[in-house]
Amino acid sequence: MKSLTSNDITPKELFDNRRKFLKLGVASLVANSALVDLLAKENLPMSNLNYVKDTNPNNLTLNSFEQITSYNNFYEFTTSKEGVKGLAHTLKPKPWSIVVDGLVEKPFEMDVEELIKKYPLQERIYRFRCVEGWSMVVPWIGFELNQFIRDAKVLSKAKYIRFETRYDETMFPDQTRGIFATIDYPYVEGLRLDEAMNPLTLLCVGLYGKTLENQNGAPLRLVVPWKYGFKSIKSIAKISFTDVEPLNSWQKENPKEYGFYANVNPKVDHPRWSQKKERVLGKFLKQDTLLFNGYEKEVGYLYKDMDLTRYF
Ligand code: MTE
Repeated sequence: MKSLTSNDITPKELFDNRRKFLKLGVASLVANSALVDLLAKENLPMSNLNYVKDTNPNNLTLNSFEQITSYNNFYEFTTSKEGVKGLAHTLKPKPWSIVVDGLVEKPFEMDVEELIKKYPLQERIYRFRCVEGWSMVVPWIGFELNQFIRDAKVLSKAKYIRFETRYDETMFPDQTRGIFATIDYPYVEGLRLDEAMNPLTLLCVGLYGKTLENQNGAPLRLVVPWKYGFKSIKSIAKISFTDVEPLNSWQKENPKEYGFYANVNPKVDHPRWSQKKERVLGKFLKQDTLLFNGYEKEVGYLYKDMDLTRYF
């Protein structure tokens, strides 16, 4: 992990300005060239999505667009977090369709553009916590996964949802390396169906008002804010409904270190990283890790009778 400098810190006035800009609609942003200049100066993207803004009731301080798009985990490109952005141009997110299969009445394929038209988009400002001990606050744009599941006509036998990232060697350089690849591809993740139905779980198509940058998992990724970041699978190509717990990529790589649940929990350490504290990207001092990343009220019921040290 890179060492942080004072340049990484977002000054308060910059943050306040950003909020002011984001309160304005897309049309006024496009129309007003003074604002366009200001956006450019602040390194903010031009918004290209229509969405309902989050009121940010917890008053979370956002990480900058620059931070969120320059410090990434995306092993299909490289293991260097600072290196992903420079390599991610080989990903071609348009056109892009996802296959939906498994325990559904009828398998189908759908274009991401159609998805964006079908489901009204919302902004969700969430804490995002990586198992490596760093975190960010991100203004994601997407829609609740439960809306999509309701329309997929899932059979009652289904207990889990499984996601797969696209396998395409022309787009993802690490996939060309065969047995020397960093991990086994395609990247796979999964959730219990009740976790997937929780209103916090998002299918995400953008951030900071704009469609996702390639390095953040264009054109479609999962966001599960109470779980470690590796559950938030990027560049999804396939969604399957199953009655068996999916074997997710990191559990497959190293079952002693990674489980299926991956709920943020200060009391359950990873063998290589204590989970008691975390460092918000751009901040110098560490802060306490919150159980379920601060979303206990919303998701605690899902794990009521479970031993979280066993189901890690
Ligand atoms: N999805 C794919 N396909 N490949 C990956 O390497 N890395 C995961 C997750 N999704 C990963 C992935 C990990 S470890 C993290 S922490 C988050 O993506 C990082 O998301 P970000 O780069 O948008 O912050």
